[in-house]
Amino acid sequence: MTAPSKPAGRIFSGAQPSGNMHLGNYLGAFRNWARLQDDYEALYCVVDMHAITVWQDPQDLQAQIREAAAAYMASGVDPERSILYNQSKVAGHAELAWIFNCVSRLGWLNRMTQFKDKVGKNREKASVGLYIYPNLMAADILLYKATHVPVGADQKQHLELTRDIAQKFNNDYGEDIFPLTEPVIQAEGARIMSLRDGSKKMSKSDPSEMTRINLNDDADTLANKIRKARTDAEPLPGTADKLDERPEAANLVGIYAALMDVSRDAVCAEFEGKGFGDFKKALTEVVVTKLSPITEEMARLQNDPAYIDQVLKDGAERASALAEPVLAEVKRAVGYL
Ligand code: AMP
Ligand code: TRP
Repeated sequence: MTAPSKPAGRIFSGAQPSGNMHLGNYLGAFRNWARLQDDYEALYCVVDMHAITVWQDPQDLQAQIREAAAAYMASGVDPERSILYNQSKVAGHAELAWIFNCVSRLGWLNRMTQFKDKVGKNREKASVGLYIYPNLMAADILLYKATHVPVGADQKQHLELTRDIAQKFNNDYGEDIFPLTEPVIQAEGARIMSLRDGSKKMSKSDPSEMTRINLNDDADTLANKIRKARTDAEPLPGTADKLDERPEAANLVGIYAALMDVSRDAVCAEFEGKGFGDFKKALTEVVVTKLSPITEEMARLQNDPAYIDQVLKDGAERASALAEPVLAEVKRAVGYL
């Protein structure tokens, strides 16, 4: 395949280095990043500034940043074709975020469901950084005038806010500086749920390891987690619409479909009438087959931290070169001397 002469646009995406990279990150994000990098100019960022909106032990953070970079690369992100770096190395993210703090409105941030879900009843104790997290995310994307952002479904609201900020900035300053960025959310795999509770998303921060398939789990751990995953007593139906009231069953079928790159209907047609005992065996085989090369590659990369550090350093230099003219344009528009 020859590379197209002109990319279809510019992609920016990122994930937080808060440990426990999981199957949801892979199916909702990393795998699609790798697939899109041929057609787009792409920046993939380890968002370490977002990570510290909740406490991160400094002793662990460096290893977690390298783990995230290794997970991107093991999932197929090529640091030569794409730009791979960590956010804190490019000061423009913080500079543009400050300007956006002055464009974005309290009323907009008050509607962010992820903040509400994360703080629960402890709002008064949440960091201010966690509250303005979406403004920094808008800065990440718009610092490069990215046109497309591939993410899981949970980030849709943050991307709508990014468009609102771009639009208000353009209006307020009377210049068409920022594009209205489009989310890229896949049909399958955009919302992988907890293995123990089909109403909660699979998450890095869930205290129970049994809820999550980690990218560094070995085959025995994967088999055990899938065996113990919650399901119901009914066999698989012939079509996926019959899974609507069965969230745990729907999630396992969805994982199988996403990993095999087929629809949920196709999975239902294949396993119609079979019980979850049989289905979980087939699912374990697929998960182990698809994830073990990634697990091995992550471990190999993490054994060579100097290589990862070099990749991040090169990436930060290339990202800075793209950010610089945009930041200059913004500072001029704002009226800075
Ligand atoms: P985070 O782990 O919150 O930093 O998310 C990094 C990327 O993975 C984002 O694009 C998320 O939308 C995606 N992601 C996180 N959890 C899931 C999930 N359970 N299912 C699908 N995508 C997810
Ligand atoms: N908020 C995203 C998440 O937790 C991570 C993120 C930060 C991001 N900046 C971004 C994703 C810019 C896409 C684009 O999943």
